[in-house]
Amino acid sequence: MKALVYLGPTRKGFEDRPKPEIATSTDAIVRITKTTICGTDLHILKGDVPTCQPGRILGHEGVGVIDSVGPAVTTFQPGDRVLISCISACGKCFYCRKLMYSHCTTGGWILGNTIDGTQAEFVRIPHADTSLYPIPEGASEEALVMLSDILPTGFECGVLNGKVQPGGAVAIVGAGPIGLAALLTAQFFSPAEIIMIDLDDNRLETAKRFGATGTINSVDGNAAETVMKMTAGRGVDTAIEAVGIPATFELCEKIIAPGGTIANIGVHGTKVDLHLENLWDRNITITTRLVDTVSTPMLLNSLRSRKIDPTLLITHRFTLDCILDAYEAFAHAGDTKALKVIITA
Ligand SMILES: NC(=O)c1ccc[n+]([C@@H]2O[C@H](COP(=O)([O-])OP(=O)(O)OC[C@H]3O[C@@H](n4cnc5c(N)ncnc54)[C@H](O)[C@@H]3O)[C@@H](O)[C@H]2O)c1
Ligand SMILES: [Zn+2]
Ligand SMILES: [Zn+2]
Repeated sequence: MKALVYLGPTRKGFEDRPKPEIATSTDAIVRITKTTICGTDLHILKGDVPTCQPGRILGHEGVGVIDSVGPAVTTFQPGDRVLISCISACGKCFYCRKLMYSHCTTGGWILGNTIDGTQAEFVRIPHADTSLYPIPEGASEEALVMLSDILPTGFECGVLNGKVQPGGAVAIVGAGPIGLAALLTAQFFSPAEIIMIDLDDNRLETAKRFGATGTINSVDGNAAETVMKMTAGRGVDTAIEAVGIPATFELCEKIIAPGGTIANIGVHGTKVDLHLENLWDRNITITTRLVDTVSTPMLLNSLRSRKIDPTLLITHRFTLDCILDAYEAFAHAGDTKALKVIITA
């Protein structure tokens, strides 16, 4: 089969690989129908993710059809259409029993990281019963691909951890796919204001179409003052960090209102200053989280009933044969205006 393989920092190839086989009784082999590329795949290609070794097939998002199942798999059978979660979960270990699937002792984020991933014709899914979801009748496959990772991430790490509430004021720093997914799912709770902050006017325009009540291009360095003006000097009840650099976390520290919550989503590679000299008396909460994908069943229901439309995030479409072009388009989002690319296998 054909697959996109990580060959070491800055190197990737579209190569022939053997079709995966059932290795454990709880495995399923899934024939991929649609997959996509995540910002995290670009991090891997920069050499930022040491757990992902050269030779690995990338990808942790996608939908497909069950090709075969191990003898212990009871929920799925060949021919079933399934959504693949970016997080594999055994459902039984200490962390899974706490609904913290991201820390599953034999799962977590392993797909396209420590085991071969979804940017291929077939993928082996461990713990299939608890890591795959049946596709609801009539649901758009392209929309579902957005539920493998980015929607649960924006919702769980940003919106739920950030305690978004009716009538509240929310700021989301970073209008990439994850920040936009947080914007989309924050609206479940009807906050009064959602202010999106980014450096890219195209992404801010998209944010307006997604329901942002205000947008700020922070290139001039005045974003904190602007947020204060927009919120009558109070700041926001929820500040969601969806970039992963010190400047954007520190911006959240500046705009958080007394009693508010800073919900970090970004993956940080360097230390960030915590300004307790300003924050010690402000009754705030700071949260961090690796996506658990516990909200996937609820998001599937919302998709089925058309309460959310994640297809708005899709900007480009490619076939698996052209996945190297898809990477080019995704990696140069400033020029191509790419958000999510759909790859059809
Ligand atoms: N916690 C988790 O489980 C989890 C899961 C998936 C992704 N992530 C992380 O979430 C973050 C966002 O992911 P993404 O795919 O949307 O990334 P992305 O790179 O596509 O988007 C980031 C956005 O931030 C903007 N930006 C960059 N610097 C900025 C600045 N100084 N001020 C304002 N905006 C700025 C960029 O223009 C871009 O639109 C990444 O750090 C990613 O690794 C975390
Ligand atoms: Zn991802
Ligand atoms: Zn587990």
